[in-house]
Amino acid sequence: MNLTKQVKERILATKLVKQIFQYEKIDSTMRIARRMVEDDSEMASGTMIITESQEAGYGRFGREWFSPDGGLYFTIILGEIYKPSINLVTGLSVAELIERRFRRQTKLSWPNDILVEGKKISGILAETTNDATLIGIGFNSFISNLIPDELCNRATSIPMDTSRKIVFLSDLIIELENNYSIFKKFEFEPFLPRFNKRMAYIGEEIQIISGKKSFRGTVLGVDEQGAIIIDDGREIRNLNSAEISAHDFKTQKNS
Ligand code: BTN
Repeated sequence: MNLTKQVKERILATKLVKQIFQYEKIDSTMRIARRMVEDDSEMASGTMIITESQEAGYGRFGREWFSPDGGLYFTIILGEIYKPSINLVTGLSVAELIERRFRRQTKLSWPNDILVEGKKISGILAETTNDATLIGIGFNSFISNLIPDELCNRATSIPMDTSRKIVFLSDLIIELENNYSIFKKFEFEPFLPRFNKRMAYIGEEIQIISGKKSFRGTVLGVDEQGAIIIDDGREIRNLNSAEISAHDFKTQKNS
């Protein structure tokens, strides 16, 4: 990954990032970040790890994250533990930037997927370890015909050349810096209307697995804690993303 001096300076001028490690190919930026925090969490705080491709990129529930050359894959190490709804704020930041930069409409598939025309363009992974929160972002900016057949119905890309991609990256870091400072003070509530406005599958039925229980219900929105609100016909449930072990949004629309 080759960040220009200018882009590097722009990123390093934020309070979020104080050092950048750039790679061509690694297993996963999350794994490197985790090792750095485990070695020395103080030193690791404020580190951004970015790569051109990943051999073992992963997402929520340990799912593989397709990471060919040309995509955007990075992790930022934040030196404190944030509430899990930071992943919603991160997704919202990506969505709003896509709308502003590319004039494309986005939807947010709770908790952490960003969709363009109903297909996933970006995914967010927030993990905690020791005293740190690791924010991993994957964005499909590679050429569209790299998307394998089996992902074609679910994934999309906004192809960008390197110069455009790295400006998008620095814009995103600035956006995250602003939004995280609001989140630190006021938590998720200020973001609630913007998230709900873009929330996918409202009014549709989904299945959610939480611990040993499985719920089926209609999506009503998210609450001020960032929990999804579903109506299972008997009661309204607010389910937190940290409690969810799987979910399936590919269900039929309610009529
Ligand atoms: C998801 O959709 O479940 C989250 C996907 C997160 C992918 C990013 S790519 C950069 C970072 N490194 C990883 O291995 N995963 C995250």
